[in-house]
Amino acid sequence: MLGKAGKAAAVAAIAALALTACGRSDTGSSSGSSSGAAETFPKGSSIGVALPQKTSENWVLAEKLFNDGLTSAGFKPDVQFANGGVSEQQNQISAMVTKGDKVIIVGAIDGAQLGTQLKQAKDAGATVIAYDRLLLNTSNVDYYVAYDNFKVGVLQGQALLDGLKSKKPNGPYNIELFAGSPDDANAKVFFDGAMSILQPKIDDGTLKVLSGQKSFEQAVTQGWKPENAQKRMDALISGSYSNANLDGVLSPNDTLARAILTSVKSAGKPIPIVTGQDSEVESVKSIMAGEQYSTINKDTSKLVAQAITMVQDLQSGKQVEINDSKSYNNGVKTVPAYLLPPVIVTLANVKTAYVNDPVLGPLTK
Ligand code: BGC
Repeated sequence: MLGKAGKAAAVAAIAALALTACGRSDTGSSSGSSSGAAETFPKGSSIGVALPQKTSENWVLAEKLFNDGLTSAGFKPDVQFANGGVSEQQNQISAMVTKGDKVIIVGAIDGAQLGTQLKQAKDAGATVIAYDRLLLNTSNVDYYVAYDNFKVGVLQGQALLDGLKSKKPNGPYNIELFAGSPDDANAKVFFDGAMSILQPKIDDGTLKVLSGQKSFEQAVTQGWKPENAQKRMDALISGSYSNANLDGVLSPNDTLARAILTSVKSAGKPIPIVTGQDSEVESVKSIMAGEQYSTINKDTSKLVAQAITMVQDLQSGKQVEINDSKSYNNGVKTVPAYLLPPVIVTLANVKTAYVNDPVLGPLTK
C-alpha cells in the first residue's frame, strides 16, 4: 500500500494531469455527443464511480485517486466498492442513477451483468464510462478508458519467452498457464494476448504444458483469488512435476504470481520464470530480489487522470478524446476508447521504470 506522503504526491500528480489534460494523444480521432463549448451539466455535479472488489492494489489506489482528483476538478465524487459481489454493484449503480450522478464510471466485477442498471443510467441522461474493464453485451456504454489489455497479454507472453531463453538458450521448456477470473472481461483478453505469442511456440514444440491444461477455461482463477491459484499450482506440481522441471509460469497479475511462487517454494522446486502485472509493491521487491521475473507498469494515477479528463470534457461540452475506435467490441458495439500503453518491467529496467512513481521510485533507486 502507498504511504501517506506517497499518496499525497500521487494525488497531486493526478490533479495536475487532470487539470492540464497532459498525456493526451494527438494521434487519435475524436468523438463525442456534444461538440459546442456550452456546459452540458453544472460543475459541482455528482460523479459516480463503481469499483469492483479489492482484488489488487490498483483498485484500492483508484478509490483515493478518484475521490481526490474529482474533488480538485470541482466535482462531487460518489465512489463505491462492491466487495459483496455483483448484486451489490448493481444496487450501487441504481443508487447513483437515482441520486442523479451525471457521469457513471464503472470498473465492473462482471461486465456482462450490469445491462439493466446501465440502461437506467442512460435513460436518466447519464454518460457511462467503462473503466479498466469493458462493459459487455450492452449498447449503454459511451466510452472505455483502460490500459491496452491485449497488449498487456502480449507483453506477458513475450516476457515469459525471453525469461526462459535467458535461463537456457534452447528449449523445450515446460510451462504452465494461469488466467484471471472468468467474470472479468479483461481476463480472456490478457490470456488471448499472451497466447498470441505462446501458442505458436507450443505448436512447434518449444513450449510444453505437461498438465495438458492449455485452454482459458482450464487456466482460470475464480475471483482473482490468490488461494485458488496457489491450490491449482500445488495440484499441477504434484500431478505433473514430481519428476520434471517446471521452467516457467504465465501469471496474469502480481497477486497470483506471488501465490504461484509460494506454491513452488513450498514444494521445494527451483524458482521458474513467472510473469505478473500491476507493479504491486511486494512484486517489485520480488523482482529486485530475483524471484518474480516480470510485471507490467500500468500507472493507476494516469488512468484515473484520463477518466477525469473525460468527465471534464463531458461537463464543459468539449469533444471527448479517444484514440481507438476499432479494438474493443463488447458484443453489441465497438466502444470508443482511450487506451494507455502498458510497459513491461523486469530486473533489467526496474530502476528506470518507476523514476516518477512516488512509492516505487524510492524503492527501486
Ligand atoms: C485489472 C488488473 C488486475 C485484475 C485483478 C483486472 O481487470 O486490469 O490490473 O490485476 O483486474 O484485480
